[in-house]
Amino acid sequence: MLLAVSPVVQAKGLSGDLEIFSWWAGDEGPALQALIDKYNEENPGVKVINATVTGGSGVNAKAVLKTRMLGGEPPDSFQVHAGQELIGTWVEADRMEDLTPLFKEQGWMDVFPEGLIKNIGTKDGIWSVPVNIHRSNVIWYSPEKLQEWGVQPPATWDEFFAVAPELQEKGIVPLALAQNWTANHLWESVALASMGPEKWDALWAGELAFDSAEGVAAWELFGKVLEYTNKDASSLSWQQATDMVVDGRAAFNVMGDWAAGYMSTTKKLVPGSGFGWAASPGTTGEFMFLADSFGLPKGVKNRDNAMAWLAILGSREGSDAFNPLKGSISARKDSELGLYNNYGKSAAVDFSKNIIVGSLAHGVTANEGFMNDFASVMEMFLKSRNAETAAKAAQQIAVKNGISK
Ligand code: GAL
Repeated sequence: MLLAVSPVVQAKGLSGDLEIFSWWAGDEGPALQALIDKYNEENPGVKVINATVTGGSGVNAKAVLKTRMLGGEPPDSFQVHAGQELIGTWVEADRMEDLTPLFKEQGWMDVFPEGLIKNIGTKDGIWSVPVNIHRSNVIWYSPEKLQEWGVQPPATWDEFFAVAPELQEKGIVPLALAQNWTANHLWESVALASMGPEKWDALWAGELAFDSAEGVAAWELFGKVLEYTNKDASSLSWQQATDMVVDGRAAFNVMGDWAAGYMSTTKKLVPGSGFGWAASPGTTGEFMFLADSFGLPKGVKNRDNAMAWLAILGSREGSDAFNPLKGSISARKDSELGLYNNYGKSAAVDFSKNIIVGSLAHGVTANEGFMNDFASVMEMFLKSRNAETAAKAAQQIAVKNGISK
């Protein structure tokens, strides 16, 4: 006898609310809105509550989310980075639903790269739906301004150090920086350049100590790079650091490719002429990735509505509506590249050819515990500039958070 299996995603007639939680507010909102519009088209009876908490890389949102999750008031679905931020935090705490039935029903098992499915899965299940692939290690510039100043985008940090003093003499900030988390963001690109992809992976596998010679060297190089950044960094948002480059107050900025989304979608600049990019110095041929994803917490109020939301996020149409606006590429293997601008097209080529490593600042390599502790180590380094001490402190938090022995 065949048993009728009820579908994971209900076909029609959904009603009530759907609360989605993310940090994509303001300038970061248009891509999310494209997904919400698609959801509304298919589910006109559902009222979407777009709960956002401003603050780049989720600095504020993650704290609010934690309070809600622990207080038994989870949103119906929330933004979380693929990797340890999801697995080592919410999955480990047994707060998420297994989405394997959804993946099977939607035919997603072969659609997302195997490596990415590993980042969102454990032996017990698949825990979120990825909406994109962002690149962390990108250096941004204005081609027009660089030409005016007679400067080339640096392929290595030594090339950067060779031009940075000249830029300073002209009153231009060589490298724009913003608040604390963007220092973590810069650190990971500098550390990758300093130690290379194999040792970067070894750090997170617990095979290379954070206070090894390589670990210390990364902080030393980072300290040198910081000498060419703006003094008011801690009071700026990442968008304001990007603006410094666009306005010609700074020559370069190392930021994830949401900056491409900001410059093309919000600032209406044309990739290639309005803004230029390259792999951050010393990381050519390497792609430091992160992926935004949405999961389904246990015990939500509107489970069916949330399932329908997740189905749209994972769909080809949903992904290709979202990513061209966001500056990221689709996490799916079958995306319609014709819909992407030249930045997106070049990122897709690099993603298919480069050595792929995971981002620390955006949740791939370490859990929330480490991330929070690392922010304190960074604060300390920004004040003391002592590489040895920072490397030792990083090793201590790696042990505390189960990365190193
Ligand atoms: C990252 C996130 C990106 C973007 C960025 C700036 O953590 O993955 O999608 O939102 O923060 O807020």
